[in-house]
Amino acid sequence: MSEELVIKKGNKEEQYLELIPQIAALIENEPDLIANLANITAALKQQFDWLWIGFYLVKEDELVVAPFQGPIACTRIKKGRGVCGKAWEQMKTIIVQDVNAFPGHITCSSLSKSEIVLPVIRENKVLAVLDIDHSQYAAFDKTDELFLSEIISLILF
Ligand code: SME
Repeated sequence: MSEELVIKKGNKEEQYLELIPQIAALIENEPDLIANLANITAALKQQFDWLWIGFYLVKEDELVVAPFQGPIACTRIKKGRGVCGKAWEQMKTIIVQDVNAFPGHITCSSLSKSEIVLPVIRENKVLAVLDIDHSQYAAFDKTDELFLSEIISLILF
């Protein structure tokens, strides 16, 4: 694809439907994981009005921050800690409507109000998590979970 992203406005579903084929094209011939994670976070940040989007990679007993877009973030998160560590431990997506109401939430930015974290699972093992923060409450729902899962499935780990 060209280096230009076509940005579609409209409802969330329409935006994902326009963006996903472009992300697929962007990463399909590139074997380098970090390059692909970097471009995916950039594409999503360009499309959506999110505060922070990024990947944490599982390294031994911790998550370590990987390509992201947004303000600086905490570097390492233990299994079971915060929303990211819980999504890793439970091997499931967690949607948090109000981060202040989530016990153990790790605050990287005081501007963050809601969050979604999806584990990246291959052969029954969590290899990474995708974490997204929004400056508004209740910004994420099942539509985000569905389309972000699709994006995650495109990544060759
Ligand atoms: N809020 C996350 C920490 C990562 S930052 O939001 C980028 C958590 O509770 O796990």
